[in-house]
Amino acid sequence: MVELKERPEPSLARINELIADYEGGKWALIPLLQKMQEEFGYIPPESTRLIAGAVGLFPAQVQGVISFYTQLYTKPQGRNVVRVCRGTACHVRGGKTILKLVKQHLGLEEGETSPDYEYTLETVACIGVCALAPNIVVGTSTYGHMNPKKVAQLFGSRKGEE
Ligand code: FES
Repeated sequence: MVELKERPEPSLARINELIADYEGGKWALIPLLQKMQEEFGYIPPESTRLIAGAVGLFPAQVQGVISFYTQLYTKPQGRNVVRVCRGTACHVRGGKTILKLVKQHLGLEEGETSPDYEYTLETVACIGVCALAPNIVVGTSTYGHMNPKKVAQLFGSRKGEE
């Protein structure tokens, strides 16, 4: 079973602490957005104006950057983001079945987050380890040579919780 990671709720105090580490210039925007997301699981909307002030941009410019990168989220994500690879190598080695099984175990469709914020399910084009296909990524861990048994081992107890 995947170990769940706890994430703090965004507070203005913590947002300001994070920003203080990155103040200085436009170069800090992407690292700061990444840090914010790493901390909270998404970019809290209330942080946009503060980030903009810290790096010398307009809030709309910061918002534009957040919208451009699909890896940056503006809504809370699950504590565990599950990415099932739908690239060619994974597809021909059963990736479609793996995706179907993960959906069943989590009770989620692509792009959905569970109501308890434990999981978000996504698909990705290729994660770059095609030799291990089919692959899935949970958080920062990659699981290769996936099969129905491994999916059950990773998410098995989830099914019985609902
Ligand atoms: S196609 Fe899945 S890792 Fe490359």
